[in-house]
Amino acid sequence: MKVLVIGGGGRCHAIVDALSRSPKVTEIVCAPGNAGIAQQARCVALKDTDVEGLLKLALEERFDLTVVGPESALAAGVVDTFKAHGLRIFGPTKAAAQIESSKEFAKNLMAEYGIPTAAYRTFTDYGEASAYVASRPLPAVLKYDGLAAGKGVVIARTAEEADHALRDMLLDGRFGQGKVVVEDFLEGPEFSFMCFVSGREVVPMVLSQDHKRAFDNDEGPNTGGMGAYSPLPFITDEDREYALEKIMRPTAAALADKGTPFCGVLYGGLMKTPAGIKVIEFNARFGDPETEVVLPRLKSDIYDVFCAVADGKGVTLEWSDRATLGIVLASKGYPGSYEKGFAIDGLDEVDGRVYHMGTAVRDGRFVTAGGRVAIVVCEGATVAEAQAKALAEVARIKCDNLFHRSDIGYQAVACEK
Ligand code: AMP
Ligand code: GLY
Repeated sequence: MKVLVIGGGGRCHAIVDALSRSPKVTEIVCAPGNAGIAQQARCVALKDTDVEGLLKLALEERFDLTVVGPESALAAGVVDTFKAHGLRIFGPTKAAAQIESSKEFAKNLMAEYGIPTAAYRTFTDYGEASAYVASRPLPAVLKYDGLAAGKGVVIARTAEEADHALRDMLLDGRFGQGKVVVEDFLEGPEFSFMCFVSGREVVPMVLSQDHKRAFDNDEGPNTGGMGAYSPLPFITDEDREYALEKIMRPTAAALADKGTPFCGVLYGGLMKTPAGIKVIEFNARFGDPETEVVLPRLKSDIYDVFCAVADGKGVTLEWSDRATLGIVLASKGYPGSYEKGFAIDGLDEVDGRVYHMGTAVRDGRFVTAGGRVAIVVCEGATVAEAQAKALAEVARIKCDNLFHRSDIGYQAVACEK
C-alpha cells in the first residue's frame, strides 16, 4: 500500500514512523516532510496548504490512503477536495474542523449539548467586551477567535493586561477579523485526550500531557509544546471514563447531529478542575508533541486504523504498557526570534526515537532550521524511568544553539512517588 502524509513537523515524523512499522505499507510519500522524515519517506516539496498541488500529486501517484497532519491543511480544504475526487483521506472536512478553527463554533456546540467547559461570552465590540470583563473575577481568559497557532490566548491577571489584550484583538485589527471569546479562568492539571472518530464511532487513545511553557516549572512564554509523555498516573480510570462518555462521545454525536460528522482525530484539551473535568479546547487533528509519545505506544497496525476511520468502520486498539516521554530541543530564543543553521551532532547516537521538527541538511550534516528542532522520545516502565532515559539521551546531542526543559513529566513523577 502507498500512503501520502501531509505535513512536515515532529507529528508527521511520528505518523510516518508508525506507518513504516506496518507490514502492509510499501511506500510513504510526505509533503513537504523535513530532513528527518526524508530518512523514512520520499519527500515532495509541496506546501501543506497547496490543495491543487496535493490533488495533482494524489491523482498521479494513486495513493491508497492520505493522512493529514496539520490544521492548516484542513483549513485549506484538502479533505473536502480529496473526497470530492473520490480519494480516501484521513481527516475532517473544513466544516467539521471548525471545532478547532472557530472557538465560537466550539463553545456554542458545547453549550447546546451540555458539554462541560468554562463559562464564556463572545464579543466583537470593544466596549461591551470591556464591560463584561470588568463584571467577572480576574484572571480573565481572552481568546482571539480563529486559528492563531497557540498565540491567540491571553490570561490577563490585571485589568490593565485585559484592556491591553482587548485593544490588540478588537481595535488594532492586528489579528484580523476581530472576535473574542472571554471565558472564566479554570485551574487544575491539563491533559490531552485524543480519539479516533468516525461519525458517532469514538475510539480513545491513551492519555498524554503536553508542556506548553518554554522553561522548567512551567515558567516563560507559551510555545507550541516543549515535551510530552504518556500515561498520566494522576488521571484515574474514572476520570477517563467521564471524559470519554460526557465529553468526547457527545461531541462527536453533536457534530454528526449538526450535519458536520467528524472523521479523523478529535483532540480534547481537558482540565481536571475541582468542579470536574472541563474542556479547554478541541483540536481537529493529532496533537503536537503528544502524537510523538502516543503513537510509539500503539501496537495495532496504524494503516488499518487510518483506513477503518476513513471508511467509517469501527476499530479496536492495542497499546503497550510502557511509558513514553519526549523532550523537545528548541532554538535559543524560541518562541521569540532565533537564529538558524547551527550544526547538530549526535542525533544518530540516540538510543530512542528522534523525530525531526525543524532541521535541514547542509554539506551532509543536520542543521537547525526552525524554532522547535527535534524531539527525543524514550521509554520506561514508569514515567520517571522514561524521563531519566530521555534526559540522558538528549545529552548526547551536541549543538551550540539549542535548549530544552529538564522537568518534562514532573507531575507524573511526583505522583508515582
Ligand atoms: P487554548 O489555545 O485554548 O488551548 O489555550 C492555551 C492555553 O491557555 C491552555 O493550554 C491553558 O493552559 C490556557 N487556558 C486556556 N483557557 C483557559 C481557561 N479557561 N482557564 C485557564 N487556563 C486556560
Ligand atoms: N499540543 C497542543 C496542540 O497540538 O495543539
